[in-house]
This record gives sequence, structure tokens and C-alpha cells, in this order.
Amino acid sequence: MIFVTGGAGFIGSNFVVDWLAPRAPGGAAPGEPVLVLDCLTYAGNLANLAAVRSHPGLRFERQDICDGAAVLALLRQHRPRALLHFAAESHVDRSIRGPAEFVRTNINGTFALLEAVRAFLAELPGTERDAFRFLHVSTDEVYGSLGPADPAFSETTAYAPNSPYAASKAASDHLVRAYRHTYGLPVLTTNCSNNYGPFQFPEKLIPLVTLQALQGKPLPVYGDGSNVRDWLFVEDHCSAIRAVLERGRVGETYNIGGNSERKNLQVVTAICALVDELRPNATLQPRSNLLTYVTDRPGHDRRYAINAEKIKRELGWEPAEAFESGLRKTVAWYLDHADWIENVRTGAYLEWIEKNYGERVAQ
Ligand code: NAD
Ligand code: DAU
Repeated sequence: MIFVTGGAGFIGSNFVVDWLAPRAPGGAAPGEPVLVLDCLTYAGNLANLAAVRSHPGLRFERQDICDGAAVLALLRQHRPRALLHFAAESHVDRSIRGPAEFVRTNINGTFALLEAVRAFLAELPGTERDAFRFLHVSTDEVYGSLGPADPAFSETTAYAPNSPYAASKAASDHLVRAYRHTYGLPVLTTNCSNNYGPFQFPEKLIPLVTLQALQGKPLPVYGDGSNVRDWLFVEDHCSAIRAVLERGRVGETYNIGGNSERKNLQVVTAICALVDELRPNATLQPRSNLLTYVTDRPGHDRRYAINAEKIKRELGWEPAEAFESGLRKTVAWYLDHADWIENVRTGAYLEWIEKNYGERVAQ
């Protein structure tokens, strides 16, 4: 069994669904059980796991990662071979409005998990302990901002986080590193670029713009729209994480990227063209007319770019999806999943969670 924290969020749920799916030759063991630990914040949604709801390999615990004693009890109960740590507060704009929750989950939560794993491993026989992996899912934002001609971030680029989100992730990376050096914890860290794909909460650029364009509402572009991100289709991030889990060298960090640098304006106009094509509407199109420049994000990082040579060289991983085809799939998914969107938007699923889990106790 593996543990996945944050498995009801965007990337975590894509990973879990993918993990439990029948796998092509050479992939991870198909259907190895997974226990999702997720406290279901606004970004956590059990509907993201609907495709595997009745899969015998899926277990779910509504669990705050900051409660280290409870996490340790679950580790003792299930004796997983790995813990994959996706859980986080993940939205930069929210971190600017309210950093405290980012410090709590991203720093204290990671610390609590590391302590729980350290105590758990101390009780294990040598072979099981040696085989265990703590895989920490992190971000390229820890490296700060690049100029137009700067080389892409590599694993040796100095940390220079600029937002409270990035700083909290950087702090968690440092804790993970320290637990390797001080206590010998079998850790792996991944630093990935911007993901996009199905089930991303519509606060992030691509789903937000898609839904605004569909409804004929303004498309908010921060600053001059020239900020650059390197976009990676979420399924490629999942396959990279599987490769690192199975073949990554303990104690190493791996950068993961899509080789797809785009200016925000390019992304927004590409989404508009796709929505025009897939949902033609004579009154609304061209949807690019809805583009609206708005006040910039404070401290807005100008450019991210990932040098993903190490993971390619050592583990043979490369992204499989081109940005244009991945964006088409993603926009089509949002246009075809009105129920999921309505559910997320109205908060109906949050009420449901309160009703369904509020009075339950873990068995
Ligand atoms: P998300 O916000 O969609 O999901 C986060 C999940 O964590 C949610 O299910 C939420 O309920 C859960 N969670 C939050 N606080 C928790 C707590 N205290 N205890 C238990 N569960 C908690 O995030 P995402 O976009 O899926 O990102 C997943 C991870 O990948 C994060 O660590 C993020 O930093 C990293 N990452 C994201 C991207 C990206 O583009 N989205 C890129 C690189 C790295
Ligand atoms: O680089 C990896 C990071 O990518 C992850 O660690 C974060 O969890 C994830 O949220 C993402 O961070 P960004 O801040 O880059 O993503 P976001 O979708 O919020 O913004 C992408 C770009 O679009 C960024 O330059 C800001 C801009 N933007 C965003 C929004 C929400 C706009 O112009 N308008 C908007 O309304």
C-alpha cells in the first residue's frame, strides 16, 4: 500500500485515479492499494475520485496532516511502503491574502508528517525501513523569478521564493532535506512547473479563463500578460512522480517540466480560440474580446522555466503531451463537465462533506 496526502485535490486525485488504473507494461504495479489522507479544504473534492470510488484498492481518511499522532497511528495500522506528499495550500493569490494557512499546512503539516514517518520507521525491521520512501511533491516557485535570457531552473539553482506560498513550500523542502541529512529518512523531492488538466480548482488561470470565456465574462489578465510559465499536462506530472518513486535515488531532488514556456496572453488567447471552436456563440465570439487587464499580483514572478535534463537522463522520463493537444483536452473536459463545475462553484459539495463526514469517526 501507498499513502497519498492531498489525494482529493487536483494533482493528487489525478495521481490516485491513474495509480489504480490498469497500467501499460513497465509502469507501477496496477491497483496497488492507496490510502488517501485529505482534510478536504475548499480545494479537496471527493468527486475528483469518482472514477475509482468503488475500486477495492481505494481507501480514504479525512485527515489533517498537521495531526502527526493520527498520521502515525495510520502508518502503524497500514504499514505502507511509501508516503507521497501532495497536500498543501497551493494558490499564490490566496497566500497573499492570508499566509497563515500556508505556514500551517505547508510547513507545520510537512513537519508533522516527517516526524510521524521518522517514528514509524524506527519501529520497522531493516528491510521494510530500507524500502520505504517519503516523496515530497514541490514546486518550481521555490527558485524565484527568471529574466528573459536566464537559463532554466536546475536542481542546483539557489532558492529565492517570492510569495508566501513559495516561501512555505521552500521551507518544507528544506525540512525534507534536513530529515535526510540528520535522521537518514529515505526522502525524494520533486519540483514541478505549472500543471493543467481535469479537476483543477477554477481559481487557477486555465480553468478560470475557460469558465469565464464560456459564460462571456471578463478574462482577468494580471499586469501586461507577458509573464511566462512552463506548462505541464497533469498526467505527465503523475508519470514523472511514479518514475521518481520507483527509480529515483534516495535523497535526490528532481525537476519536472513540460518544455512548454508560454506567455499568459498566449495561453488566454489559445483558450478563447478553443472555446469559440467548441462552443460557438455568435454574440460572444471572438471571446478574446473579453480579455481584461487587471492590477498585477503583488511580487508577481516574471518567468519560470524548468531544466528537466536530470530526470530524463537518470530515469528516462519526458513529457508525452504537447501543450496544444493537452490544452484542447483540458478545455474540452471543462466544457463537458458542467455538473462538476456547478458543484464546485456552489459549494454544494462542501455542504455534502459536512453532512457526510461531520459526525463520523474513523474506524
Ligand atoms: P490543490 O490545492 O488542488 O489540492 C490540495 C489538496 O490538499 C486538497 O485536496 C486539500 O483538501 C488538501 N489539503 C490541504 N491542506 C490539508 C491539510 N492540512 N491536511 C490534509 N489535506 C490538506 O493542489 P494541487 O494543485 O493538486 O497541488 C498538489 C501539490 O503539488 C502541492 O504540494 C503543490 O504545491 C504542488 N504543485 C502544484 C503545481 C500546480 O501547478 N498545481 C505545480 C507544482 C507543484
Ligand atoms: O509553478 C508551479 C505553480 O504553478 C504551483 O506551485 C502552484 O500551486 C500553482 O498554483 C501555479 O502557480 P501560478 O501562480 O503560476 O498559477 P496561476 O494559475 O495562479 O497563475 C498562472 C499565471 O497566470 C500567473 O502568471 C498569474 C496569471 N494569472 C492568474 C490568474 C488566476 C492571471 O493573469 N490572471 C488570473 O486571474
